[in-house]
Amino acid sequence: MDKNLALDLVRVTEVATIKAGLWLGKGDKNAADGAAVEGMRKMFNHIDVDGRIVIGEGEMDEAPMLYIGEKVGHVVEGVEKIDIAVDPLDGTTIISKAQDHAIAVIAATPQGKMLHAPDMYMDKIAVGPKGKGVVHLDMPLEHNITALAKVLDKKVEDVMVVMLDRERHQKHIDVCRKLGCRVKLVSDGDVTTAMATCFEDSNIDLMIGSGGAPEGVLAAAAVKCLGGDFQGRLLPETQEEIERCESMGLEIGQLLTMEDLVAGDEVHFACTAVTDNDFLKGIKFDGHGKAVTESIAMRTETGTIRTIRTVHILDKKEKYID
Ligand code: FBP
Repeated sequence: MDKNLALDLVRVTEVATIKAGLWLGKGDKNAADGAAVEGMRKMFNHIDVDGRIVIGEGEMDEAPMLYIGEKVGHVVEGVEKIDIAVDPLDGTTIISKAQDHAIAVIAATPQGKMLHAPDMYMDKIAVGPKGKGVVHLDMPLEHNITALAKVLDKKVEDVMVVMLDRERHQKHIDVCRKLGCRVKLVSDGDVTTAMATCFEDSNIDLMIGSGGAPEGVLAAAAVKCLGGDFQGRLLPETQEEIERCESMGLEIGQLLTMEDLVAGDEVHFACTAVTDNDFLKGIKFDGHGKAVTESIAMRTETGTIRTIRTVHILDKKEKYID
């Protein structure tokens, strides 16, 4: 894929962010999510792609827009068919409370390269470039942290491990406390925390714990572009979820490598920060018709990572999208 799709996709995540941002701190997560979905869907009409949603807002009968299988994009002659994974707003509760780590995110690959992750939990581990090949989801956490400290040339006590603040992660916290390393607990949003492991000045070294499987694929795409490593394991909880995994040809308990999650070297990724995270500032409205967003656009083919700061003139943008 010669075209840098991420540069187009970032325009889509920006619009989702602006729309969601209007609901920042307003206590209505459904309205924020709905606005992000609608904004993202509309903006896709302005992008020259022949896209098919493989990770989105749910099955066709559950979601009015960005449902699995929906075709998106403005199809012009010669454009390649691509698979698209979206989360117009990862962190719906966060935005309603104006807390950190909410993000609008898209990954795209040629068709058939992304795991069509069902809506269930996934156990995850993510690490930056220096930790690639050093940590493994199947190794005990003590081992992973100690080995990582060595390659990062840090004391174990200084390693920062991030995870969602959930009771189910108490076992991980206990291990960290025993080792004496640092733990950062976030209320929601494990796409940004996985990505943060790849930014040296984020002060985040390792991401662990379970969260949504769709978010896992999006995070894997991002971490691949950033040169780190991501591994996952689907955690089906019901018979229906078990059958769903089997119908995808996956063994229960199978380790999913980065390549299983997002294959190949034509991965395009874009995200825009709705609220602050460890590497981007969230949207800011100046109160006089302008908004400023920070985004990342990147692709594996060239390895280029762009941080983009954009000033939006809100009424012009509104007219353009409609
Ligand atoms: P939503 O935006 O759908 O609320 O997802 C936020 C999130 O924190 C994800 O980032 C994460 O993967 C998942 O929820 C974790 O799920 P749970 O809240 O059930 O632990």
